[in-house]
Amino acid sequence: MSKVTVVGAGNVGATCANVLAVHEVANQVCLIDIKEGLAEGKAMDIMQTAQLMGFDTVVEGVTNDYSRTADSDVVIITSGIPRKPGMTREELIGVNAGIVKSVATQVLTYSPNAILIVVSNPMDTMAYLTLHSLGLPRNRVIGMGGALDSARLRYYLSHALKCNANDVDGFVIGGHGDTTMIPLKSFMTYKGVHVSNFLSDDEIEDVVKKTMVGGATLTGLLGTSAWMAPGAAAASVAESIIKDQKKMIPCSVSLEGEYGMKDITIGVPCIIGKNGLEKVLELKLSQAEMEQLRASEAAVRKTTAVLKDLNVL
Ligand code: LAC
Repeated sequence: MSKVTVVGAGNVGATCANVLAVHEVANQVCLIDIKEGLAEGKAMDIMQTAQLMGFDTVVEGVTNDYSRTADSDVVIITSGIPRKPGMTREELIGVNAGIVKSVATQVLTYSPNAILIVVSNPMDTMAYLTLHSLGLPRNRVIGMGGALDSARLRYYLSHALKCNANDVDGFVIGGHGDTTMIPLKSFMTYKGVHVSNFLSDDEIEDVVKKTMVGGATLTGLLGTSAWMAPGAAAASVAESIIKDQKKMIPCSVSLEGEYGMKDITIGVPCIIGKNGLEKVLELKLSQAEMEQLRASEAAVRKTTAVLKDLNVL
């Protein structure tokens, strides 16, 4: 019997619960929100697709009662406000820090062994806050930004190559911010062949630039943050944990010396399995990529430092 709780029944949370159900990631999904009736309504709507989509997962909607989240194996935190057009993810810290801390505390009361996936923005800092304010071991707190940004990279790469997105590979490390994420040029491949065989430097650079503002582009089009890919990205991390798939997924995790960093939560390639974070992979980065990672580190540290002023750590 496996159970995943999704906290926040907004666009991202509800989409995530839907993907978890359609892919039968867990036997049970609990969707919880503070707004009366919202999670119940979204869960009921999802369950009315069970016969149409042919899934057996049971999705339950709950208002506020955290006892109903008890014994979850994985908890996905999407709570907080999304950004509006023109806003950065970092600007959300003041509102979201208190919400995320309170949610994580309540969740752990009923599922003391759960692995937490953090979606709320600014994602790297919210993962840091969750880890440190609750004193958890690092394998149990995973920020999902890199999974999302890497999916966007593959989307833009497949467009540039005019090919199937499943035939391209590549990933994004660093912070989950418009200027802090690093789509790694040296690891972009098409069926295992480096993309420089098919694309010019300018075309590759264009993919990099579009990926970095992938979220902002959607916020501009939609008037609020995206939710399909963010929800699916969080669900994919949960799936690797629940099914012990040991997939390599770029995620925001606490570093203990890898890439020369400590006391920071930032995106790096990770092996994700039943214990949550099972391994950080240390890639041989080019000098330019290493410099980009240092700049990203500095930016993420600056945002994370705000937690001290907010008195939430
Ligand atoms: C995005 C938000 C969820 O990138 O961070 O769409």
